[in-house]
Amino acid sequence: MKVICPQCKKEHSIDESKIPATAKVAQCKACGYRFFLQRAKHSEPEDQASLPAYPRRIGVTLSKGGVGKTTTSVNLAAGLALAGFKVLLVDTDTQGQAAYLLGQKTQVGLTELVTGELPAEETIVQARENLWLLAGGRSLAGIKRLIDRKDFGGELTLLEALESVEKHYDYVIVDTSPGWDPLTVNVLFYVNELITPVSLEVMTLQGLVEFLKSLSSVQKYRSEVALNYILPTFLDNRVKNPRAILDRLKELYGDLICTPIRYNVRLSEAPAYGKTIYEYAPGSHGSLDYRELVRKISGNPKLFL
Ligand SMILES: Nc1ncnc2c1ncn2[C@@H]1O[C@H](COP(=O)(O)OP(=O)(O)O)[C@@H](O)[C@H]1O
Ligand SMILES: [Mg+2]
Repeated sequence: MKVICPQCKKEHSIDESKIPATAKVAQCKACGYRFFLQRAKHSEPEDQASLPAYPRRIGVTLSKGGVGKTTTSVNLAAGLALAGFKVLLVDTDTQGQAAYLLGQKTQVGLTELVTGELPAEETIVQARENLWLLAGGRSLAGIKRLIDRKDFGGELTLLEALESVEKHYDYVIVDTSPGWDPLTVNVLFYVNELITPVSLEVMTLQGLVEFLKSLSSVQKYRSEVALNYILPTFLDNRVKNPRAILDRLKELYGDLICTPIRYNVRLSEAPAYGKTIYEYAPGSHGSLDYRELVRKISGNPKLFL
């Protein structure tokens, strides 16, 4: 099989039988660039060029708070890491919850990367095997001011900072704050894919519609960013109303709707222990549902089975 490195364009001849069945990522021997490996029926060299951008940049976002954004960002990132991918979790929220959920007490993070106060490698902490964290927190308020002060190109601040570090990872997962601010816009100018959690507990359809309006105003300038996944959260099968909201979502958005994350008290307990749901309650509904999400996002239906 022939594989062309998307970065340096060097052509490599690889004996396909020697590639382990679980291998998902290749590294170019010439330039060191890592990229997703496509094989079997798609093994023609030109197909490698049509692979998704590398790494996959995924934002978890919706203007509303309390819908499960941070829970999803952390458990999606940790699940992909368990599956063997190298994952960078970026927290763009001033609350800095992602570090807390992973039991990390880091004092540095995204702010120091963006301002260049510290060398990039000192701003990123390894939180688990295959999982790295670029923490958020209160200091991000300064970044918002920095973005506001720029005469032009402010919306590309995050992109410029992350481009320098992203090549080491297979996935960059970006958690966002509630609301719409300069950093949210920056996230939309960086990521290519979006996951939007929608809480079925309360009627958040209105929030989704408003978010889609704001998103389309960004898409005019950056067509690469798309809402690929709508993730219903807080599904409680004992209550009738959430089912009705879920059915309505499916009518409106069809294939974008992922298998819902059920209401699961374990998901709300895990953060206090600094553990992911796979560590805290591996057999819980929360763990099973987030594994399903990892299968969906990675496109590998056999993961963890
Ligand atoms: N599926 C769920 N079942 C029960 N509690 C959840 C679930 N998802 C999230 N939670 C809890 O709900 C609260 C809000 O979730 P969070 O992920 O912080 O939302 P956001 O980041 O959108 O504000 C947190 O206390 C979290 O632990
Ligand atoms: Mg949050």
